[in-house]
Amino acid sequence: MEHELMRIGVSLPENLLTKFDGIIEKRGYSSRSEGIRDAIRSYITYYEWMSDVKGRRVGTISLIYDHTKRGLSNALADAQHDYIDIIKSSIHLHLDHDNCLEVIILDGEGADVKAIAERIMSLKGVKYVKLNTAPPTEKM
Ligand code: NI
Repeated sequence: MEHELMRIGVSLPENLLTKFDGIIEKRGYSSRSEGIRDAIRSYITYYEWMSDVKGRRVGTISLIYDHTKRGLSNALADAQHDYIDIIKSSIHLHLDHDNCLEVIILDGEGADVKAIAERIMSLKGVKYVKLNTAPPTEKM
């Protein structure tokens, strides 16, 4: 779907703009406008995620955990089997003797996505959990 481009004027502190320009140059954006559009999209996605994880969501849960911790591997498997309808795939990497990295890919109701992430976060021996979600809508 084609969207009309609107022109806006923004006042920024010089150091903020200098920093921003440095980043978009490093990242290879063709123009400052493209960098700002991307930053606004990220901001909106973040805000929507923060304010309510509701409706259909796609996303990932990344976690690092100690698989030698007693009962943890089973608890993680139990949690994932309880949410079998929204877990589409997962990747498992053995990082070293004790530690594993797992990335779980989800597509489902936001409340469920949030619930399984919180359940995993609450397990002892899980060292790191990061939930990322987005509404699977057309590009803004
Ligand atoms: Ni492993």
